[in-house]
Formats: sequence, structure tokens, C-alpha cells
Amino acid sequence: MDAIQEIKNRLDIVDVVSDSVQLRKSGRSYSGFCPFHPNSRTPAFHVFPETQTWHCFGACADGGDLFSFVMKKEGWDFKEALVNLAQRAGVTLEERSPANKSQEDAQRRQTDLLTAAADYFHQLLLHAPQAEHAREYVAARQLTAETQAVYRVGFSLGSWDACRTHFNSQGYSDDELLDAGLLTENPDKGTRYDRFRNRLMIPIRDINGRVVGFGARTLEKDGIPKYLNSPQTELFNKSHLLYGLDMAKPFIREARRVVIVEGYMDVMQAWQAGFQNVVAQMGTALTEDQLRSVKRYTKRFVLALDADAAGLSATMRGLQVARETLDRELEVRFDARGLVRHEGRLQADIRVVTLPEGNDPDKIIRTDPAQWPRLLEEAKPVVEYVINLLTKELDRGDAKEKTSIAQQVLPLINDIGDPIERDHFWQLLARSLGVDQRVLRQITVPQKAPRRGSRSSSTSAASPQVPPPPERRRLGNSSLSGQAANDFRQRNYLRQCFQYPQLVAQINLKLAESKMDQVSESDFIAAEDKVLLRHLYQQLSTGTVVTIEKLCDSLDELLLNRVQLLLTPPPTPEAELDRLADTLVLSVFDWRLQRIKLRNAEIEGLFSERNDPEATERSDLYQLIREGHVQIQSINRAKNAMSAVSRRRAEDADLGGF
Ligand code: UTP
Ligand code: MN
Repeated sequence: MDAIQEIKNRLDIVDVVSDSVQLRKSGRSYSGFCPFHPNSRTPAFHVFPETQTWHCFGACADGGDLFSFVMKKEGWDFKEALVNLAQRAGVTLEERSPANKSQEDAQRRQTDLLTAAADYFHQLLLHAPQAEHAREYVAARQLTAETQAVYRVGFSLGSWDACRTHFNSQGYSDDELLDAGLLTENPDKGTRYDRFRNRLMIPIRDINGRVVGFGARTLEKDGIPKYLNSPQTELFNKSHLLYGLDMAKPFIREARRVVIVEGYMDVMQAWQAGFQNVVAQMGTALTEDQLRSVKRYTKRFVLALDADAAGLSATMRGLQVARETLDRELEVRFDARGLVRHEGRLQADIRVVTLPEGNDPDKIIRTDPAQWPRLLEEAKPVVEYVINLLTKELDRGDAKEKTSIAQQVLPLINDIGDPIERDHFWQLLARSLGVDQRVLRQITVPQKAPRRGSRSSSTSAASPQVPPPPERRRLGNSSLSGQAANDFRQRNYLRQCFQYPQLVAQINLKLAESKMDQVSESDFIAAEDKVLLRHLYQQLSTGTVVTIEKLCDSLDELLLNRVQLLLTPPPTPEAELDRLADTLVLSVFDWRLQRIKLRNAEIEGLFSERNDPEATERSDLYQLIREGHVQIQSINRAKNAMSAVSRRRAEDADLGGF
């Protein structure tokens, strides 16, 4: 699969757009204020998850796919969009620009160094005479030799320059050691020395198993800090990483669940006991990036966190993020059709369990491994967990307290998409507070200022009974196959025009004769197609004879791959070019008809799906539909007006041959 497609498969346009546009669910699409034109009254901007496209029905009247969105939003060219989205999607790009290449080379050298360092520390732990106390320590913590080997647990000598000397002799400069975080610098004196001294070294690997840093535990009683980490670098970013994920990946998939714990030791201990779907969040609150990195393997999360105060607040912070990242998916948890269970689409189920006071997973698993799975089974859905937590010490006589709890929990409940589930939690909350459900429904929830990227709407307490529609309802087979047909038509257009650039002018002339707009970027949805057309026009406008070689020269390698793909079918003989132009004009008509129909269907969807009062009042949208009908009529007229002869000629050849 090519990188572009891979990226589109992995990313959800709704997620990406949500980073910069506040979207609210509206029927089967999401809407918001258009980021590309002044728009603050009625949301003109729509994102359609099913087709993974966006469209502004307002002043810009533009639309496209994921790539075209970020290109427009960030002012990136295709390549920049590609690099950024690939990174976000975790897709490796084969072709690299020289700049990227040198940066990657530097990164590779750094991970090589860190990997070598992990080995060096590991060997010290195994064999160095000075590591006797460290070996005793890991033995006391009951880490087997195998576990130590699997996680490459190590030991750093209690010296200021042992590590430095070792790696200098291997050809690494002090600067490189500093960049990798193995050396540290005294800012006043400018002296450099080993960062890790007399510590238990735990290499931290990224999702692909590359060593990116270390967590280094003190071996002294009450040593401070308990864990000394590598400094934050581009490679080592604690808020992106989950400890143990490289090893846990296949087990997470197999267990269809990931367990998130707090610390390194918990992960290692769990692994050793056969619980291998466990990762750690390394002391920071769970971030959106971390959850994303696991979403690929499972949508079922269990947060198993320590009961201490820190653990508890970490849980609450974690929950906050979990909901913000995944609430869209949570919403479709009980989608009757269960479509979302399948790959490519997310369905999240987040459960939480707090461990018995004074215990962490490490201790529980060491003392009573059978208790671990039992505990996990006790994990509660997020809302239930929160209700339990807040009502645990509730004084049933304290009315104010009840109101306060209700106000904290209701926004969570209203966020739930599934009405049955929502009702379930309404009842649970009512029971837990000892109040009548009807009373609960009268409580007004203070509206928080909406957060960037989070869906704040459709959660008003006044209308909890409005059921959002199933997420993945299809536009209907006809429009999807219509889309496929359009894709085919547009590819054919590009393919032919790249082969015979003179076709571009011929087609535009014929379109002009029919009083139709010339083919423009806005005819296309896929960003790469828009870019290809732009290249075509640019080359044509220079006035020089355009050859396919010339076009290819000006293209980025990745786009070139695409052009070559377009070129693979046998070309139509040149004598047929005029007929081909007719075919393509018809084809342009057809794809425009198809797009208008699709757009009208989308707009109608905005009205019918949930009786959205806002949408219903939107005369501008009705206006658009009317305009769409007018356009359809005029395109049909133009089609008919093409001489009967040429039409027949064209239709004979329409898309024939491939
Ligand atoms: P814990 O203190 O619970 O660590 O911190 P732990 O894994 O149970 O360690 P042991 O059992 O005492 O050896 C949880 C996690 O928080 C991070 C580490 O990632 C740790 O695993 N942490 C903790 C730090 O980064 N720095 C610290 O000083 C303490
Ligand atoms: Mn511990």
C-alpha cells in the first residue's frame, strides 16, 4: 500500500480537523465554523466521517480530503503535509528529502548510541564486581534473569566519567553523549559528567523497540529522585511514550485489552507473571498521544492505578484525557449494528480500577497473582467509577453535596451517545444520590467554556434525551459507489491529461462552449489529485512544450509514483484524441453531477438526521440545495447540448477499455 493511502487509513479526518476546529456532531457529520473564511454565525464547515472528507458550504465553497485540509490550514505543500501526517500516523516514508535524511541519520546515530548504552549497562549489571548490590536489589524485587534480559535492565557505575570514557573510546563525542542524555552539564562551570551514577538502569523503548531513553532508579534508601529520567529530547518524550508497549503490542491485541499501570516495575512484574498486555504511563498523566498509540491494537482500556492520593488524582486526570480523546468512539460503544468493532474504526471502552490501599500491581502480582485478573474484572466504566468515587463518602443528608456531585457527573453522562447507556447512568446516579431521576433532570449543569477540540455541544442537560444517530450509518450504497465511480473518472482524466497534456485545453474549450467552468482543483477531492492538476496547469502555463518527462521532473517522488500508476494502463492512440476529449468532458460532467448530488445528500442529512433545529433554520443550506438543483439541470442541459454525434461517439468510448 502506498504511504498516502496508509496514512488515510490510519488517521481519522475528524480527529485531525478537531485539533484546530471545534466540531460538534450534527447528524452523521460534524460541523463547525470554517477556519478558512470569516465565519462565526452559522457553522458552514462540515466534516464527513464516512467519506473522510470536509466541505465548507459557505464562502469558500471548497472541500477535500485529509491532506487538502492540512495543506490549506497550515499553508503546507503536499510534501510537508505528507511528512507531518505520516509522522502523526506512524507511517514511515520511503523517500526522504536530504534534510529529513540527515535529521534521521542523526536520530539513528542517537538510538544506536542509546541501544549500545542499554547493552553496556546491562552487561555491568550482570558482571561488574561493583554491581553486587544492584544484583541483590533486583533479586530482592524478584525480577528473574529472563525478565532482566527481556527489559535489558542494567546498572550504571557510581562514577563521574565511566560511561563517558567507555563511549568516547567507541567513537562517540561528548556532544553526542550530551544530546543522548548520557552526560549532563554543569551550567555554571560548563563541566560535563555522567548523568546516571549508581542507579538501576531501565531502558525506555518506543513502540518500535528503539531505545529512546532511560528511567534510572536509585539504589540508595530514600535516594532522590527515586527515578531519574533521560532529559526530554525529540526522541524521548514521556508524554508520547508508554513503557513496555513495544513488548506488549501483540499481547494487547491478543488479550483485546490493554492494562495501563503507573510504573516500570509494575510492567516487568506483570510480564513475568504472564500478564503481558500491560504498559506504564511513567508518572505523568495519561496523554492523548499515549492513548492514540494503543488505539491501533485495542479500544479496551483498563486503568489500574495505585490507591494513594497521587494515584487517585492521576486517575482523574487520566480520565479527563481519555474522554477527550475517545469520547467519539465511546459514543458508539453500543451501536446496534456493531460495525465499529471492525478494524479501521474505533470503539473505546475505558474502565478503571483502583488497587487496594497501599498496593501497586507489582506488589499484588508478587504476593497473590490470582488477585490480579480478579481485580481487573472489577474495573468499572468511567462514569460508574466516578459516581462511586464521588458518592463513597457522601453524607446522605447533605443536599448541597448531592447537587455538587450531580453537577460534576451529569456532563459526563450527557456526553454518552448511547441513550440506553445514558439512561442507565442517570438511574445509577439517582440511586447513588438517593434522589428521584426527575429531580436530577431538572438540574442545570454549569456550561464550561468549550475546550478546543472537544465536543461540548449535544451535552446540554436540558436535552439529554436527544439520541445522536449511529455513527457509521452509510450514505447509502449508491452514493458510495458513486464516489468510487468519481474516483475512477478523475483518475482517468488525470491519466489521460498527463499522457496528452494538450487534452487539458481541448477539454476546457469544450467546457467553455457549454458555458461550464474549466476543470479546476475544486473538482477534485484527494489532495494529491489537486496537486497533480496544479502541476499540470503550471507546466502548461509556462508555454513550453509539455512532455510527460518534463512533468515528471517537476514532481515530488511520491506524487511521481502516483503519476506512474496513472500511466500504467495502455494509452489511447493519438488519432483518437478528439474523441477522448469528448469522453473526458462527459466524464467531467458526470463527476460534477455526482458531487452535487452527494453534497445535497449531505446537506439533507444535516436536516433529517436529528431534526437539528439549528440546521432546519439554515436557509443558506436550503439555498445551497436549490443551487445544486439548478447546477444539475444546467449540467444535464450541457450534456444534451453536446452534439448528438459527439455524444454518441463519446459514450461509445466512455471509460471503455480499462
Ligand atoms: P512509583 O513511585 O509508584 O514507582 O512511581 P514504582 O514503579 O512503583 O517504583 P518502585 O516500585 O518504588 O521501584 C510510578 C512511576 O512514576 C515515575 C516512574 O515512571 C515510576 O515507575 N516516577 C516516579 C518518576 O519518573 N520519578 C520519580 O521520582 C518517581
Ligand atoms: Mn512500586
